Amino acid sequence: MSSPDDARFPILTPQIGEYINQLTGPSSPLAEQLAAHAHEHGFPLIGESSGRWLEILTRGIGGKRVFEFGSGFGFSAYYFARAVGPEGEVVGSEFDADEIEDFKRLFANDSIGERIRILQGSAIDVFNATTGMFDAVLIDIDKEDYIDALHASIARVRPGGLIMADNVLWGGLTAQDAAKDDTATQTLQEFNKLIFSDPRLLTSILPCGDGLSVSLVLP
Ligand SMILES: C[S@@+](CC[C@H](N)C(=O)[O-])C[C@H]1O[C@@H](n2cnc3c(N)ncnc32)[C@H](O)[C@@H]1O
Repeated sequence: MSSPDDARFPILTPQIGEYINQLTGPSSPLAEQLAAHAHEHGFPLIGESSGRWLEILTRGIGGKRVFEFGSGFGFSAYYFARAVGPEGEVVGSEFDADEIEDFKRLFANDSIGERIRILQGSAIDVFNATTGMFDAVLIDIDKEDYIDALHASIARVRPGGLIMADNVLWGGLTAQDAAKDDTATQTLQEFNKLIFSDPRLLTSILPCGDGLSVSLVLP
């Protein structure tokens, strides 16, 4: 979810950001199509740069089973699906049925979509209805729900697995004193303190997109 426009600041200088974008390019024609769909509808995405990090890190741990708190129409799920391979599984969650319809339509002609299931409902309820352990999770839902998603995840991500969260820099707002009524920023600040102080996690923040936290679940 994007942060308020008036609070946004570029993490990188425009020149360096543009340089990285030129080097990167879209991961595939489908990734390009998904990004164009988001642009057309003003949908807030994790972005190509963070998407690649999801894929690199999940491949790096040999991840085969991933859960997403907040999937939209499947952009971030696409990078996880590339990482887990044909035998892997990406379980997504989304409370907006229209997004799930868009997911089905946009992935209809690509077999990679068979690795992704996006279930409708509150992300934490959907997660709690699943069983077994996950290799990685991504938290990308309403910010007020981040801490509940974190607690649920710590119990269900295997040692050596990853808990990742988007928007932890929140357009720069988490680095400033939060306004009294800004519960999203306050919760993100609390979330960041928790992921850095929990002895079960080894955490850092990748300064790409809107800030992607990466926490390794320690054995
Ligand atoms: C910022 S979008 C990101 C989607 C996806 N991670 C991506 O980058 O492609 C977040 C999505 O999560 C959904 N969402 C937000 N809070 C949710 C919740 N508590 N339960 C289920 N879906 C939620 C929103 O409807 C939206 O589609």
